[in-house]
Amino acid sequence: MNRVSTRKALGEAHSKLILVGEHAVVYGKPAIAIPFPLKVRSIVEESSGNIMFESAVYTGPIDSMPMRMKGISECIKETLHYLGKPLEGLRIRIDSAIPLGRGLGSSAAVAVALVRSLFSFCGQEPSQRELFSFVQIAETHAHGKPSGIDMAAVSSECPIWFEREKEPIPVKTNGPLYIVASDTGRIGDTRIAVENVRKRYLLEPEKVEKSLEKIGKIVDEAKNALLNGDMYLLGQLLNRNQEELISLGVSDDGLNRLIERARNAGALGAKLTGGGLGGCMIALADSLESARIISSELMKSGAFRSWYFSSQDDSLYASQE
Ligand code: MEV
Repeated sequence: MNRVSTRKALGEAHSKLILVGEHAVVYGKPAIAIPFPLKVRSIVEESSGNIMFESAVYTGPIDSMPMRMKGISECIKETLHYLGKPLEGLRIRIDSAIPLGRGLGSSAAVAVALVRSLFSFCGQEPSQRELFSFVQIAETHAHGKPSGIDMAAVSSECPIWFEREKEPIPVKTNGPLYIVASDTGRIGDTRIAVENVRKRYLLEPEKVEKSLEKIGKIVDEAKNALLNGDMYLLGQLLNRNQEELISLGVSDDGLNRLIERARNAGALGAKLTGGGLGGCMIALADSLESARIISSELMKSGAFRSWYFSSQDDSLYASQE
């Protein structure tokens, strides 16, 4: 009996948390992001006819993708063109554990996994420059003019220092980070949040510039706190960063409530993460047990879901109510 084997390739990426510096990073300030172990996998298989795409949000030919997914179809086409492959005879399946629109880098992670899988299908591995240039196509459609921190963070295995237009730099940490991430359950549209900050900048340039400067300094201090393993200082820096994010207008009542609860439950510091206006917040704890308690308190206080983890290993825990 003849056995027909179809060629198959896999690409993976994970989600990310911005520890400090979101929004200011759009204006050229630094930010620090860490990997968050929710995964996305892209599986490419040989098939016949049009390129077919399968995911939780859309299944069908890439040419009929809804407008909001246009970036993904463009990214696939450009990548295949670059790899010298015809635009047919493939099936692409996306399996993602990353919730959409929660500031966890879902769109960047899907695009990174996708580009990696297409390269792998052609027996290649993309350089960082190649990866970023194709992922940027999808990200520009999804977020307008993103800083690029999301794609750098979801493709890195360690915490990174990121500045726009520069190579991401690994950040040294002394000891594990115990982090809680809680979801308000509301979609935070990064494009809208970034646009709101831009409008505020036009209205109150001096005030916004001051906030951005302060955030830049906070990120610099956070790098040193990580290097020295000074988690108490890092917690205070998260709190100070949150004050500036409030003044930029990207926090909201739901986020503020969870942040307050986390601090009352023993967090060393807490802030929103990502674009804000919904989405997720993070809290820093002094032990895994403390992270577990904070996370479960947040569930009791109305979080839609809540995870906690130690950066030492990849194990992620989800709190039940
Ligand atoms: C989104 O994860 C981070 C923002 O700073 C936007 C960006 O950097 O493109 C809000």
